Amino acid sequence: MADITTSLKLDGNLKMQVGTFHVAVWGCQMNVYDADRIRDLMAASGYVEQVEPRGADVIILVTCAVRAKAEDKVFNQISAWRHQGVINERTIIALGGCVGAELADQILKLEPSIAIVFGPRTAHRLPHMISSYAATGDKIVDVQAEALEKFDALPEQGQRGPSAFVTIMEGCSNKCSYCIVPYTRGEEESRPEQDILDEIVTHVAHGVKEINLLGQNVNSYRGLTPDGNQSRFSNLLYEVAAIDGVERLRFTTSNPMEFTDDIIAAIHDLPVIADYIHIPVQSGSDRILKMMRRNYTSDDYRRLIDKIRKARPNIYISTDIIVGFPGETDEDFAETMRLVNDIKFDSGFSFIYSKRPGTPAAELPDPVSLEHKKQNLYVLQEKLEEYAVMYSQGMLGTRQRVLVEGISRKNEQELKARTSNNRVVILEGAPSLIGTMVDVDITKVMTHTLKGEIVR
Ligand code: 5AD
Ligand code: SF4
Repeated sequence: MADITTSLKLDGNLKMQVGTFHVAVWGCQMNVYDADRIRDLMAASGYVEQVEPRGADVIILVTCAVRAKAEDKVFNQISAWRHQGVINERTIIALGGCVGAELADQILKLEPSIAIVFGPRTAHRLPHMISSYAATGDKIVDVQAEALEKFDALPEQGQRGPSAFVTIMEGCSNKCSYCIVPYTRGEEESRPEQDILDEIVTHVAHGVKEINLLGQNVNSYRGLTPDGNQSRFSNLLYEVAAIDGVERLRFTTSNPMEFTDDIIAAIHDLPVIADYIHIPVQSGSDRILKMMRRNYTSDDYRRLIDKIRKARPNIYISTDIIVGFPGETDEDFAETMRLVNDIKFDSGFSFIYSKRPGTPAAELPDPVSLEHKKQNLYVLQEKLEEYAVMYSQGMLGTRQRVLVEGISRKNEQELKARTSNNRVVILEGAPSLIGTMVDVDITKVMTHTLKGEIVR
């Protein structure tokens, strides 16, 4: 049991130093958002954050369960820390995020050093769980809560960089047959419009220029308006765009099925929306799409992209593709490659299918060897890379408006910025430019990044 002081009240009356904490996060941007809000909550409760895990009183792990590999990472990390002496028997380890919700009390058996298990919906109760564990030594598993409870219970967000994530909905009700998210994050529920707008106004007051609206399926946003009506995602886009100080607006993830004409009209009408949209297609084979329960065909997807490109000719489209879904044949894979060649995605994330316990696809026969799936993945990734490089080369010599995000990781003398179409640009300039939008000429194209010069 850790010897941290535990006379802690969550209402903030008592803001004393109760120990140090470290947060490690895996998974999607929604997890990054949750992790940031946990940091604010812990700080408001008197804890002090440590960048390094070694010696922290509390280690909080925000995990991802989307593929078995993602899930394994957290357990591998804990054993590595144990061997390196980063953690000891006094460290309070709290495991949360999607693995927390998926495995709940099984985790305590899998990894005895874990003291607390929380889920994506119960992060706001973490200080209570920690103080209770520290006082009694009784392990805690707490993964059940109303979908939106945490948003009301969390303190106002702290100041962080020029780009901010804002979760607009929790959970997912689509139930794609391969996906664990509906079971870890629960049924879909949208936050009220005003709460989202207030959060964005706070960000802008802190100097944020770019807002990323997050949800598993943002198109189906249906939060309440202040007068009690149901909003739509397109309404929300217009409302956010009208906030003074929002200079760039992104959103993810979009489902092709609910990408309705009103959303396409908003993309056409609102220049503040970035020239980049991520729309996972998952497969180009109608047979596989049906088995995935995606509710669209590959031609529906082609038509959707046509419409979006007509509304915004410069838009870059990225996607997610799963290779080796149970029963995927070489013909199915060829259909995926045909779609990739038709659309010419600007970038793509591709994964080998991973069997997730409790999902409908986990019951399907899966005769294709992993070796064969890996070969297909390689072929697909080569093609996606070819198009990504082609688009980058097309940007050589163009002028781009970029948001300067920070210092370059590779060279401290350089700055890292991002174009509207989501390409990273490395440039020379004073650190005082961080957090501002500047115009740059693209002077060089590397594989995944660009080099630029600030227009004087
Ligand atoms: N196996 C492999 N990839 C998956 N994804 C979701 N579930 C699985 C799974 N069981 C991928 C999808 C999704 C992305 C976030 O992860 O492509 O869009
Ligand atoms: Fe991973 Fe999905 Fe959970 Fe995000 S919502 S952390 S991608 S399992």
